[in-house]
Amino acid sequence: MERLRVGLIGWGTVGSALGGLIAGGPLPVELVRIAVREPARERASGLPEGVDIGPVEAITRADDLDAVVELVGGMDGPRAWAQAVLGRGLPFVTANKALLATHGAELAVLAGGTPGAALLASASVGGGAPMLEVVEHLAATGAITRLRGLLNATTTFILSSMAQGSSYDEALSAAQRAGYAEADPSFDVEGRDAAQKLAILASVAWGRFRPEREVETHGIVGISLEPGRIVRLVAEADGEDLRVKPMELLPGVAFASATGVESVLEIEVRDAGSFRIRGPGAGGRATAGAVYADLARLVAGERPILFSPRGR
Ligand code: HSE
Repeated sequence: MERLRVGLIGWGTVGSALGGLIAGGPLPVELVRIAVREPARERASGLPEGVDIGPVEAITRADDLDAVVELVGGMDGPRAWAQAVLGRGLPFVTANKALLATHGAELAVLAGGTPGAALLASASVGGGAPMLEVVEHLAATGAITRLRGLLNATTTFILSSMAQGSSYDEALSAAQRAGYAEADPSFDVEGRDAAQKLAILASVAWGRFRPEREVETHGIVGISLEPGRIVRLVAEADGEDLRVKPMELLPGVAFASATGVESVLEIEVRDAGSFRIRGPGAGGRATAGAVYADLARLVAGERPILFSPRGR
């Protein structure tokens, strides 16, 4: 392939950072079309010149694209766009945790039955930290025994800021200003964002689709911290039970030192020990890097399908 022609749905924190990477990065990728909610207003906010700006349908129906990237979030719209794109035999790249943790199995089946289609979502878990990629790699031996981590950057940011004296509301506002929180931050603080990420990781780790509704989920709404205590929203799975809940951590134990936007995942593998991935779990540039890495796989001719045991 000479160059990968990409249509991008969404020009928010991650979308605009991806635009910068595509413009300045080494891959033969061209941003051909962008879909935004209000083209006239958003044109003024730094949309690139020479790219077709229009409604989503102009992307899902376009015949001049090699792949579509969705960075909007939400459920019904993205599900229909994914179905349209995959059904036409095109790769669909997304950071949409809610979509994948609900309809991931159905999308994987559609992609698997349509030559040329692919489903990639490295940016859906861990922001810039390559969690899904490493789980996918280690899952090949069928020997993952446990996943445990801090999968939501916003709650780690809030809980570590509160320990430094911020109020819950101040810390949440700061996380929103930094672009870490979801458009609807209740997904972060009620634990649903972490639950969706855990469901995606567990589905890949144990080769059986686990939707978000199977995760026992507790959030941090209304939490109060006693001085000197370290609390984090911990996500864990052992192949059967999936759980997200705030836990007190002793200083010095794994994860206790993660602060701010950091996310962490520990993967235990039978007879091989444990692996830990740690890095910025949210933020435009970090997350866009994960999307860009997915585009690199497409440029290389791969057509992987998330949730498909063998990929393609
Ligand atoms: N709101 C998410 C978080 C963004 O705080 O982790 C990255 O998925």
